Order: sequence, then structure tokens, then C-alpha cells
Amino acid sequence: MRLVVVSNRLSVSLHRDGEQWQIKPSSGGLATALAQFLRQRGGVWIGWPGITNQDAAGLEAPLADAAGRFGYDFVPVLLSDEELQGFYYGFSNEIVWPLFHDLQSRCNFVPEYWASYRSVTEKFADVVVNTVRKDDLLWVQDYHLMGLAGRLRERGLRNPIGFFLHIPFPAPDIFLKLPWRLEVLESLLGYNLIGFQTPRDRGNFLDCVRKLIPHAQIRRRPGGHMIQHAGRLARVGAFPIGIDYKTFSRNAAESDVTERVQAIRAEWPNVQIILGVDRLDYTKGIPDRLKAYRLALQRYPELQRAVTLLQVVVPSREAVPEYQDLKSEIERLVTQVNGEFTEPGWVPVHYIFRELDHPELLAYYRAADVAFVTPLKDGMNLVAKEYCACQIEGNGVLILSEFTGAAFRLSCGAVLVNPYDLEHVADALFRAVNMSPAERAPAMHRLRRNIARQDVYWWADEFLSACLSAAQAAGADSTGSLRDPVEEASEGLYAWTT
Ligand code: UDP
Ligand code: G6P
Repeated sequence: MRLVVVSNRLSVSLHRDGEQWQIKPSSGGLATALAQFLRQRGGVWIGWPGITNQDAAGLEAPLADAAGRFGYDFVPVLLSDEELQGFYYGFSNEIVWPLFHDLQSRCNFVPEYWASYRSVTEKFADVVVNTVRKDDLLWVQDYHLMGLAGRLRERGLRNPIGFFLHIPFPAPDIFLKLPWRLEVLESLLGYNLIGFQTPRDRGNFLDCVRKLIPHAQIRRRPGGHMIQHAGRLARVGAFPIGIDYKTFSRNAAESDVTERVQAIRAEWPNVQIILGVDRLDYTKGIPDRLKAYRLALQRYPELQRAVTLLQVVVPSREAVPEYQDLKSEIERLVTQVNGEFTEPGWVPVHYIFRELDHPELLAYYRAADVAFVTPLKDGMNLVAKEYCACQIEGNGVLILSEFTGAAFRLSCGAVLVNPYDLEHVADALFRAVNMSPAERAPAMHRLRRNIARQDVYWWADEFLSACLSAAQAAGADSTGSLRDPVEEASEGLYAWTT
């Protein structure tokens, strides 16, 4: 079947430079992981090309060119400035993003955002309906498009449609704060398959359905849970996203990356490099990380001149005021730490605020002695997995927040931390830096084996085959009601990290 991926942002972003079009890969985990997969599989990607519709004249040519280069087709959804403000910055990133990351105090529940969200979802639905063929399999991605299935079904689309949420799904006491909670939940049930990153997210979703739609019938099946509601049958499952492990690992060994690794090592001889790579986002816990680093330098003076923190921040969503404030806060903290500790020949924090090119990123991953991955909450965190894939010498240590989806599978091998506990993070950093090669190698080996086994191809295969069987089950079952609803046992608080 032809695969049609739909996401808010296309895997490439366009920008017009005078008469010339610039086209670059979009940043973020969704784009990186799925672009690798679609390149191998082929298909179509529908989404926003990163420019507003008044700048969009003539974008067909660069998109056709990109299709030739990447091996799949691009169909743009053009948005006006106003739509971007209401749907993308507003509803998606000032409401759903903070709420689903348990940061409800950062939400702006503006009713106009909801209206814009609804009308832009209709716009996406029109583009999808004009693009799909009868036998296509549709795969909708992420929180911006939770409501798309309902609009597509209203337009009579009968194709199998799967949805994958890349970010966490919150527990009922948080989700219930959303003024449009019932509409959002019910529209999700229009998909044949609703996929989450971890069993905990899946459990939260099921709890919300039980609370808000008590007459929905839920039963446990070998491949996941089935929910019957309003004449539809949806399957719910956990599918932790992976990376293209082999390609990362192979590219990290290429000669251009090796040369850069040598240059990085020559720049910082005799210090351990601690690496942070994040989009500019308050969920990533960058200020707390800088505070924990400062605390480690104070508590363990032997770390001074022995380590350096290389913090890469990739610009993101800078039109949202919270993101501008975050940038200022990070820069203030970097200046503070450097002001307090810098000595001739040693700077404690090297701060990079830009997007890296791929070989540069791989060289930092490979050269770093410790990856410092401490989000306050993260759906998965692919940086953690990419770091391990690039550790071809196998000497690195992964410090990982227990509130990432990645911690679900990588707890055996990573140094897990609670990012809110600065003393604990500072101690963990000291311990990581002092781990011997004999401790590091087996831990990194376990991590790499795990990441290699459940890579992006495994993830996509699992999801897509589950989606097809869910669509078949819905076709066979949609008229009958479920006679034996079975509630699953509740998952313990930390069951998901074991
Ligand atoms: N990344 C990027 N450009 C950079 C640095 C990183 O595109 O300069 C990519 C990185 O390879 C990873 C993604 O950004 O695939 C970050 O994904 P993650 O899941 O860690 O977080 P997200 O940004 O999706 O919240
Ligand atoms: C996260 C989200 C993606 C999003 C990416 C970059 O990975 O899960 O859906 O594309 O961040 O954010 P942006 O707002 O620039 O698309």
C-alpha cells in the first residue's frame, strides 16, 4: 500500500532567499526519524513547508526537486499568518504542548486558538482528501493533528488511518483541565490505531477515556486495548519510536566525522566533554541542567579544568514569548557559570545557539564522554539514542532523565536522574565522569544493543501492521457491540521504568 504521512511540519523546511529557494531538513525528532524511514519506504508526506502562504508562490519546483532527492513526494499545506498564530503557536504550542508535558501553569487557554485549530484541521482534511487514493494507508503524526480523523471520516474517507503521538499523554487530573477535552478525546477515537510512546502514556489515555466517556467499552486484546465508542472501534497501543541506528553508527565512522572528532579532541585535550543537545524548549530542562552543573563544580572542585559542558541549543518556536524568555534565562545562566569559574585555558560552558549540520552533530556525539540528557518531561528523546548509536568506541556514559520515554527501555545502562533534584543530578554527573572504562563499556554495549534492536524500522513495522489489523477488526466489528469489556490492571507509578 502507498503510505501517506501527515504531520504539521513537513520533513523539509523551505525558505526564500531572493530568487533562490533554500530547502533544509526540519529539526526535531519526528522529522529526523520519519524522514529516514520514508526515504527507504517511499510514499507521500503532507504538511506545512515552514513558510506562510503569501511567500509560497513557486514552491512546487523546489518540492519536486526535493522529492527526486529524497525518494518520496511532498504535498504542502499552506497556512496564513493568522492560522499559524492561532493553530500552531497558539493551540498547539501554548496549550497542548505545555499541558501534555505536565506544565499546565504555562498554558494559555484562549478560545480563539481552539477556533483556529478547528478550521486549520479542516484545511488539512481537504488537502488529505484531495491527495489520497482508495488503497492508501494514512499515518497521522503528533499533537497538532489529534482531531484530523473525525474530519476525514466526515468526508467519507474509509482508508485505514493510524495516529502516533510523539509527546507524552497526561494523566486525567491534568488532561481534564483542557476546556475542549471531550472533543479532543472523541476525535482521537476516530483513528483505527492510536499509538503512544510508552505504556504509561497509553494508560493515561485509557484513564481519561474511562473518566470522560464512561460508556465507551474498553477491552484488553493480545495486541493492545480496543475501545468501542459511537459505532467505531479503535485500537490503542504503545510503540516506542527508534532511530535509524545503522545509519547513525555507520556515518559516525565516516572519515569527515572522524576528522572533526579529532579536531574537537585537539581543541579540548585532557578534559571530559559533557554534551547537551536540545531544541530551545522549556521541557528540556536546560536551566536546571546548568544549575546542576554549577553545583557539581562547587561540590566537586576536582571537576574544574577536568570537564567542559558543550551545550547545543537549536532555535525553535521563537515567536512564543515563553521561548524567548527561556533563551534569555539560558544565556544568563551560561554567563553566570562562566563568570564564576573560567580560568586561563579553561571555560566551563561552551554554548552553541544554532542548528548543526549532520556531520558536526555526529562528531559531537562521538567525541563526548558524557551525554547530559535531563528533560523535565519528554515523549521519547531521540538525542539519547543517537548519542549511543554514535558511540562507536563505546566509552561514553548516558545520563538520562527518568521522565523521558527513552528511560522506559534504557534504564539498564543509563545513569537515571530526577532532573528536579539538582543535588542528585550533580552527584550523578560526578559519578559518570569518574566511571572507569571497565564500567562504561558494558553499560554502553547494553544501550547500543537495545537501541539497535528496536530501531525506527522496527517501530514503523510494528505500528503499521497493528494499524492494518486494527482497520480490519473495525471493518468486521463496527456494527456489533463488545460483550466482554475488560478493564486492565492499573500500572504502578514506576512500573514503566522497570
Ligand atoms: N537535531 C537537529 N539539528 C541539530 C541538532 C539536533 O535536527 O542541530 C535533531 C536530532 O538529531 C534529533 C532531534 O533533533 O533527531 C531532536 O529529537 P528529540 O526527540 O531529542 O527532541 P525533540 O526536538 O523532538 O523534542
Ligand atoms: C517535537 C514535536 C514535533 C515537532 C518538533 C519540532 O519533536 O513532537 O511534532 O515537529 O518538536 O517543533 P516545531 O514546532 O518546530 O515543529
